[in-house]
Amino acid sequence: MISLRSVCKSFGRMQAVNDVLLEIAAGEFFSLLGASGSGKTTLLRMIAGFEAVTSGQILIDGQPMQDTPPHLRPINMVFQNYAIFPHLTVRDNIAYGLRRLGTPKAEQARMVDAMLELIALPGYGDRRAHQLSGGQMQRVALARALILKPKLLLLDEPLGALDKHLREQMQMELRSLQRQLGITFVLVTHDQEEALTLSDRVAVMANGQVTQVDTPSGLYDRSRTRQVAAFVGTMNVFDATVRTDGSARIADVAGLGVMALNGCSQGRANGERVLVALRPEGLGLSRTKPAGPAHAVAGQLQARQYLGRRQLLHVKVAGRAAPVTVATAAARGEDPWSGDEGSPVWLTWAPDAVSILDPT
Ligand SMILES: Nc1ncnc2c1ncn2[C@@H]1O[C@H](COP(=O)(O)OP(=O)(O)OP(=O)(O)O)[C@@H](O)[C@H]1O
Ligand SMILES: [Mg+2]
Repeated sequence: MISLRSVCKSFGRMQAVNDVLLEIAAGEFFSLLGASGSGKTTLLRMIAGFEAVTSGQILIDGQPMQDTPPHLRPINMVFQNYAIFPHLTVRDNIAYGLRRLGTPKAEQARMVDAMLELIALPGYGDRRAHQLSGGQMQRVALARALILKPKLLLLDEPLGALDKHLREQMQMELRSLQRQLGITFVLVTHDQEEALTLSDRVAVMANGQVTQVDTPSGLYDRSRTRQVAAFVGTMNVFDATVRTDGSARIADVAGLGVMALNGCSQGRANGERVLVALRPEGLGLSRTKPAGPAHAVAGQLQARQYLGRRQLLHVKVAGRAAPVTVATAAARGEDPWSGDEGSPVWLTWAPDAVSILDPT
């Protein structure tokens, strides 16, 4: 549905978007995830036509868009600063697009009522913008865009002003609406949890560039760079050197020692410096040295974060400054590492939990 071909945008000497290549399919829930200033809004505004591309091409439904003004693109956009018309009531704001389309009055009223229900603001129809909170305005802006059932909806941090509870509720609503209506959604967010729970695919952006595009689980399990790995969760990253041992590849990993590398070492040369990575879930902890030829190293339990059934344990190992973070799941009513701070422990891991990252 959307093709971005080497899209660039400069503001003077500032390169806000740099050579972005993306294909977004019809019906997809696609997110742009990145830190503040990474170019997400600029990219969205170019798709909507509010900003011209400096070079490259944008196609929607196979049609080049350079000569198509925003109002002629099959798109609706919800802006980051949730602009709604201050002189109109909530009802009239939501019905705005319908009135322009000439939808019959009774039909408009029915659709607006359904929308007010959906955004959890029934009874707010006669208020104006100054009588609403930021989160309520944001929901009205969302309703105004959704009511038109556009083929393509661009959403720039549409849930940013909502509290956690409402935010999670609206996330589920957005997802089910998108499924029901079959609309293509492009969502901009800097909230990794939001991107991962809602999206079919996510593009991670940094410094105007797309670093990786994948499904949520693909991004988590197959992070290519240190930056992507850190953005989608906690990652333990170790400096390492690749060695060959006959035909097999091993790595000398700072803090963990020499370990066998699995398929992830393909294409790495003898002596190459790499980053070896392990998610907290890929590591385990035991009080005694594991039997057999396990991958294990001695350490000291430094600190723990109790998070209910799950806890994060921070373990100091020799040869590495930062502690290694381990995630463990506990059974109900059990707090297995309570009071163990300072104790000697053994860190263990499965070889197939190890991956290699690019250092960027
Ligand atoms: N009109 C403009 N003129 C000059 N520089 C701009 C303009 N718009 C954006 N920029 C710059 O381009 C870069 C990308 O901005 P953009 O708004 O796309 O970031 P973002 O990823 O949406 O960030 P945030 O999460 O804070 O909204 C920033 O460094 C910003 O300062
Ligand atoms: Mg932005």
